[in-house]
Formats: sequence, structure tokens, C-alpha cells
Amino acid sequence: MKKLIEVLSDKSALIERSLSLTVEKITNAVEQRGKCTLALAGGSTPKPLYESLAKQSLPWDKIHIFWGDERYVSPEHQDSNQRMARQAWLNHVAIPAENIHPMPTEAGDPALDAQTHEAHIREFFQVSPGEFPSLDLVLLGMGDDGHTASLFPHTEALKVSDRLITVGNKDGQPRLTFTIPLINQSHCVMFIVAGENKRPALAQIMASEADEIAYPSRSINPQGELWWLLDEAAGADLKS
Ligand code: 6PG
Repeated sequence: MKKLIEVLSDKSALIERSLSLTVEKITNAVEQRGKCTLALAGGSTPKPLYESLAKQSLPWDKIHIFWGDERYVSPEHQDSNQRMARQAWLNHVAIPAENIHPMPTEAGDPALDAQTHEAHIREFFQVSPGEFPSLDLVLLGMGDDGHTASLFPHTEALKVSDRLITVGNKDGQPRLTFTIPLINQSHCVMFIVAGENKRPALAQIMASEADEIAYPSRSINPQGELWWLLDEAAGADLKS
């Protein structure tokens, strides 16, 4: 794994840098592997990045969109990560509908939907049980408690090592999430983190020793590149 940390002057510089790096990774993946498989982060930080991506000229028919996690709500719900990404980006570009692979959330059973999505991903990547596919790029945010995707501190999801997709738990609310081993199989993980409130968790995550169960983002060590793109407010203590 190659770990790279960049601290940008403010939120807009952070979004600009995450845009240039995302476009670079998409372009490289398409050149090297004929397509790009990209998992999106939810939450609020990446929304301006998605709005900027909507203005790019990219080989949309060669890009496949997944989500690293999803709230267990309908795709029309205001909290849906799928809804946010479609409104900010995917509805505005010529990406084929079959290239968009949302996490299902309507079986009324999160564990069943997790299994359904796992089967879909295995079929798409042609991987059998026990194998983990390598996505080209996984975008991640980080909560002020050190969670990422829907891998929350002290939850069962952190222990799952034999599946691609599992059920996360945020204060009793179910979510679907990529597992740690699936994220760690990717060619590139890019954290995009902004805000003073993230600084204490970042200090724990970057420390040489700390509790991975308390700070799940510590467990993200992809076999490829690990990028931490931070604004000054979040990353001031980490500037080299
Ligand atoms: C979600 C995200 C979650 C998010 C962090 C940071 O579904 O909310 O996947 O992991 O990335 O909570 O959220 P902000 O970017 O809004 O601070």
C-alpha cells in the first residue's frame, strides 16, 4: 500500500484536488483495463465533487458506478446516497442506466438486500465465494467518530471478513456497506475529509497506535493507493 496525504487550503481547493485526482484515476483505469469501477461515498462532503464531475467530459459508457454504503431508505428518500449522487451528477451525464449499480434497500430486510447486492457484485466482477474483486477507485468520507462508509465504531460490521457487503448500524438504524476486506482489495481508496470537527478522529487514525474498533477508518489499508485529501481545518496537524 502507498499512503499519500495532501492538506489543501480550504474546502473548495479540496474539492478541486479531489476532482483532478478522480478524473486521473478514472482515465487511467479506462486506459489500462478498458473500464472504471468506482464506488461513491455518501454524506455531504462529496456533493460538490459530484456536481463538478457532471461537467467533465469522460467516457461515460466505460464507467460503472457503485456505492460504498447506503442508508436503508427508498431511493427517493432525502437521506438516500443514491438520490444525492443522481441529482448532483448521474442524471446530468450520458452514463448508461445499466452502468449504475445502486445498493438495493426495498426488500424490507437489510440482510437480504445485502446478500442480493453481494450476488450482483460477484456476477459483475465474475468472482466466486471467498474471492474479493478489486474496484478501481473507492471514494470515502469520514465521520467525526472515525467511521467510514457505514462501518461504525464498535459494531459487528467491523468483524465481517468473508463477505463483500454487510449490514451496518448507525445508532440502531440499518445501513448497507462495503466490508473492510472489499474496500481493502481496491486499486485506490480516496478519503475526502473537511472540517475542524474531523481533526480529533484524524489524529487517532494517523497515530502509530490506536484502537481500530473505536476508529474504523484505521482499518482501511488498500492493496493499492490510499489517498487522504484534507482541508486545512481537518488536516492542519498533519501537514508535513
Ligand atoms: C454516509 C457516508 C458516511 C460519510 C461520513 C462523512 O452514508 O453518510 O457514507 O460514511 O462519508 O459520515 O459524512 P460528511 O461528509 O457528511 O461529513
